[in-house]
Amino acid sequence: MRDVAVIGIGLTKFGELWDKSFRNLIAEAGSKAILDSGISGKEIDALYVGSMSAGRFIGQEHVGALVADSSGFAHMHIPSIRVESADASGGLAFRQGYFSVASGMNDIVVIGGVEKMTDVIGAEATDTLATSLDQEWEAFFGSTLAGTYAMIATKHMHDYGTTREQLAQVAVKNHANGALNPYAQFKRPISLENVLKAPMEAYPLTMMDCSPVSDGAAALVLCAAEKAKKYTDKPIKIIGSGQASDTLPLHGRKNICIFESTVYAAKMAYKQAGIKPKDVDVVEVHDSYTIGEILAIEDLGFVKKGEGGKAVENKITTFDGEIPVNPSGGLKAKGHPLGATGVAQIAEIVMQLRGEADKRQIKNAKIGLAHNVGGAGATCLVHILEAM
Ligand code: COA
Repeated sequence: MRDVAVIGIGLTKFGELWDKSFRNLIAEAGSKAILDSGISGKEIDALYVGSMSAGRFIGQEHVGALVADSSGFAHMHIPSIRVESADASGGLAFRQGYFSVASGMNDIVVIGGVEKMTDVIGAEATDTLATSLDQEWEAFFGSTLAGTYAMIATKHMHDYGTTREQLAQVAVKNHANGALNPYAQFKRPISLENVLKAPMEAYPLTMMDCSPVSDGAAALVLCAAEKAKKYTDKPIKIIGSGQASDTLPLHGRKNICIFESTVYAAKMAYKQAGIKPKDVDVVEVHDSYTIGEILAIEDLGFVKKGEGGKAVENKITTFDGEIPVNPSGGLKAKGHPLGATGVAQIAEIVMQLRGEADKRQIKNAKIGLAHNVGGAGATCLVHILEAM
């Protein structure tokens, strides 16, 4: 395996983007990433694109071909691969592209992530999100993704004394961070009261504990590290990549308050990187629901199991806290266009490590970690990156 670096990033704004189609979004993010990297289109060996459910959201499958075509690469006959693992599709596309360069098969690849969720009505979006659960054992009986995370939140409150307010504080922090991010769907700070008094989604989670339904795309250019300096003076090296799975339905798990996919993916990534959680300076985690961020900081080893709620209350995860989490605003405020999310998280880490995150810059960030979850934790990707 050889070293691989990220040499270019591109993002669209996230939100309800009525005036942009799926193909517009991925072409915009991809062209920004290519421009940022300084490569020419002819140097690209392959495209990898994460998209969870284009078939249901816009009636379009064959996404690999669509992306190659809409990005202007169809006539160059570049291989284009669509990758799917629910809302971890972006993180998995990144890992597949990383492997292809690390193996020596490719020198330069572009990773994309894209989803266009707002062309369907809310109930259809909720149904589509539930396809990331077990259809036969969960969704068929009426389980929604919010309902599943709500069960986990209730058990966490019961077992570890996590409070309703601590969950809400995750949303308050992430909205405050999102207000500083020009790409974020929500740029308005919110109060604890806003979260607690919002319409109930699934007890104990209100609408303000949930990430929104979003459109958006993100892209990255990866290059063999030994060639990266030819294109940029700020390459960001991938030093750890981990992936793990868990049972698809919750009932197969020993403890629903532990996402073992996160624990195992993190173990794999930390081992490859040769670091411990305390060495990480900045983190983007999968807070599709506020309880998701609390589970993540526990399962990634930043705090002990059961202490995530207290850590949020004690402001350990804020900008100037011990371990800043989701400076981008997270999925909660930046938005969560499923397939784009894992790629956008890595783009945020790259901005932080380059020192280009502007008002949300974490001081002296040298090592960053991105954590992307599929559904209710049956898939997890963890990536660790370092400024070269
Ligand atoms: N957080 C903050 N504000 C939100 C929001 C959210 N999650 N969802 C909607 N809003 C805002 C909208 O911007 C809108 O504001 P405006 O009136 O100022 O324009 C207002 O609330 C009403 O929006 P609407 O689209 O009618 O809300 P909704 O009731 O249809 O949808 C949810 C709310 C929570 C059901 C929806 O956001 C949702 O399904 N979220 C979960 C997404 C999810 O599970 N993703 C995958 C996770 S793995």
